[in-house]
Amino acid sequence: MTVSLRPGATTSVAVAATRLDAATAHLDAPLLALDLGALRANAADLVVRAAGTPVRVASKSVRCRAVLDAALGTPGFRGVMAYAVREAVLLARAGVDDVLLGYPSVDRGALAELAADPVARQRVTLMVDDPAQLRIARDAAGRAGLRVCIDVDASLRIGPLHLGVRRSPVRTPSQAAALASAARRLGFDVVGVMFYEAQVAGLPDSSLAVRLVKRVSIGELAHRRAAVVAAVAGNGQLEIVNSGGTGSLESSAADPVVTEVTAGSGLYGPTLFDGYRAFTPRPALMFALPVVRRPAAAVATTFGGGYIASGPAGASRVPTPVYPAGLRLLGTEGAGEVQTPVRGRTVPAIGDRVWWRHTKAGEICERFTGMHLVEDGHVVGSTPTYRGEGWTFG
Ligand SMILES: Cc1ncc(COP(=O)(O)O)c(C=O)c1O
Repeated sequence: MTVSLRPGATTSVAVAATRLDAATAHLDAPLLALDLGALRANAADLVVRAAGTPVRVASKSVRCRAVLDAALGTPGFRGVMAYAVREAVLLARAGVDDVLLGYPSVDRGALAELAADPVARQRVTLMVDDPAQLRIARDAAGRAGLRVCIDVDASLRIGPLHLGVRRSPVRTPSQAAALASAARRLGFDVVGVMFYEAQVAGLPDSSLAVRLVKRVSIGELAHRRAAVVAAVAGNGQLEIVNSGGTGSLESSAADPVVTEVTAGSGLYGPTLFDGYRAFTPRPALMFALPVVRRPAAAVATTFGGGYIASGPAGASRVPTPVYPAGLRLLGTEGAGEVQTPVRGRTVPAIGDRVWWRHTKAGEICERFTGMHLVEDGHVVGSTPTYRGEGWTFG
């Protein structure tokens, strides 16, 4: 079904979960539910925070076509950042006219398919950071003139310290210019550069030290970004200078060389984004699990639940029970493979549901074939997740 986005209102976690619970009371759990009012308010916030710079929606953080379409239909959004070439080709064939890969690929079959499709070829831009990727793409695609964007390391280096993610080996203007020249020699069309400052965008403001790192990093990147753009563009102009994520929209968009910012997680508002100072996304997407047994007076066991988020393993990666209030996981069991006990002063009965939030955004869609869409307290439809469409890309 089509999801349309209009301005919405702020909601607390408890109110949001209560609303989803009442709306879906007639449905069997486990289920995944999306509050459309919260989704559209989150989308509007992302646009406001980008302050006029177009927002590219990150598909890995959404993993649902109807929600991607809803974002693309929101003024201020433009284009998709995909995570797999096969996915990018499918999106392009489905009508998305601007798909930027966020990550390099060596999927020869998908690259050949892209090269063989004249429409997808115009709509999809590959991400590269190494001549080896270019050679693989060239061998798979032939001289098809594929579009490429250069991923530039946006981490902060202080002496031997590397603050940020380990992604691209390309960091300096001369390294970026050399890769652009290599790409052009192999027949690629170099259309852009991307900087993903994970140490700003993906780190909650948990301490003074983190906030300081962010401030220093934003200043360092502003200098280097302009120099890299000038070196890659030469006498021409780049179509794409992409930067940022949900956690960095203000600072990424503030750099005048940036032509677009990326955001995805901010649409669903997972727990990872609870700890930022500049913004608070509404918890739009939650899942409900049924209570199937009561091992003790203070313990209820739900079916399912072991939906651990990617990233450094630890307590921050497990889902959070949010409704009824006061429930918590057991340290000895955590979130289980097919059943998850929760403890609380008062616990729900067998047949009742517990509502949960995932740590990250799109990953939960890999556990459900579809999501129920809730509007004004009622289920107004359902829509498949990527997984529900058989779209699994790794
Ligand atoms: C290249 C790139 N851009 C942007 C993002 C931001 O995505 P989100 O807004 O979901 O945090 C990510 C997330 O990892 C990313 O890898």
